[in-house]
Amino acid sequence: MGAILLTGGLGFVGSHTGVELIKEGYDVIIVDNLSNSDMKTLDNIEKIAGKRPRFYEEDLCQEEGLEKVFLENKIESVIHFAGYKAVGESREKPLLYYKNNVLPALMLLEQMQKHGVKKFVFSSSAAVYGPDNDAPYTEDMPTGNCTNPYGKCKRIVEEICQDLSVAAPDMTFIILRYFNPTGAHESGLLGETFKSLPNSLMSYICKVALGECRYLSIFGNDYPTPDGTGIRDYVHVLDLATGHIKGLEYADKNRGCHIFNLGRGKAYSVLDLIKVFEQVNGIQIPYLFEARRPGDLALAYADCKKAKEVLGWVAEKDIESMCKDSWHWARTKWDIL
Ligand code: UD1
Repeated sequence: MGAILLTGGLGFVGSHTGVELIKEGYDVIIVDNLSNSDMKTLDNIEKIAGKRPRFYEEDLCQEEGLEKVFLENKIESVIHFAGYKAVGESREKPLLYYKNNVLPALMLLEQMQKHGVKKFVFSSSAAVYGPDNDAPYTEDMPTGNCTNPYGKCKRIVEEICQDLSVAAPDMTFIILRYFNPTGAHESGLLGETFKSLPNSLMSYICKVALGECRYLSIFGNDYPTPDGTGIRDYVHVLDLATGHIKGLEYADKNRGCHIFNLGRGKAYSVLDLIKVFEQVNGIQIPYLFEARRPGDLALAYADCKKAKEVLGWVAEKDIESMCKDSWHWARTKWDIL
């Protein structure tokens, strides 16, 4: 069996997936340019999994460095996590996002073709569904009208995969559309890190719990939802990790391009999430209602039937574990990093 190359393998979803892959006996290689991650994460992957993945500090846009990874290793599959993920920033700096979130996929796919690597798993997002579809989202819904360049980049890479799957029928593309990744490794050694501003609701809740912010700003309480706040489908990062393993197993036996939602299909509002966080962690989260955030949807959650029936994957961790593990990580991470 050849190795699995993880791009962005020191990031949030990448690091948890690396741990689970090593535990399953896979040979893992990580490429990361450290733009939004830290070498300590590599030590912590080793601590949890008992094995240190081979590591390359490379930028995927640099052909020579990337090719070296393919020349020095027998790579069987690639899981492409690397990319910027701050939706607001993607609106301010679209060129940066198109360059960093589309070009690396092209560079990787070129190297894969050159070196005969046939299996590509892509870390996509529920952002591709855009505002024209009604939740629950199914994989066959039309995509493309995304409200931000971040989502558009994900959609473009999906389309590249679809086109290439026609031109190269011996390849396999597994596109995983994550809903709202949250939680952290229960050891407290891995979780989401930020070099600039955090960009998810849970990380802002943790900042308030840590006393770094006085209150949480809730973006809108006038949505057409039961309590007026936005509804999302939160999914534990360790469940996402096992989703990638199921995706790889599926890629072993199937050709073509296959898309799967990775969510729980359970809808939680901002106020629901705060309430659960308060209950399981015994901390009050003060909040204020503010204006809606541009581009936000009222309601976004997955239909998870396809992943269950085709991959045999179901997210097992509940919202309580997500709140508990996120808080554990938020309290310990500054000692670790
Ligand atoms: C956003 C992106 C999505 C991306 C995802 C991953 C949009 C339209 N969607 O999703 O493309 O894949 O991030 O990071 O930008 N909220 C607050 N206060 C806060 C932060 C968030 O009220 O301080 C609310 C939001 O309005 C939303 C919910 O919490 O209703 C979740 O927000 P967030 O965690 O940022 O994720 P999404 O907006 O779902």
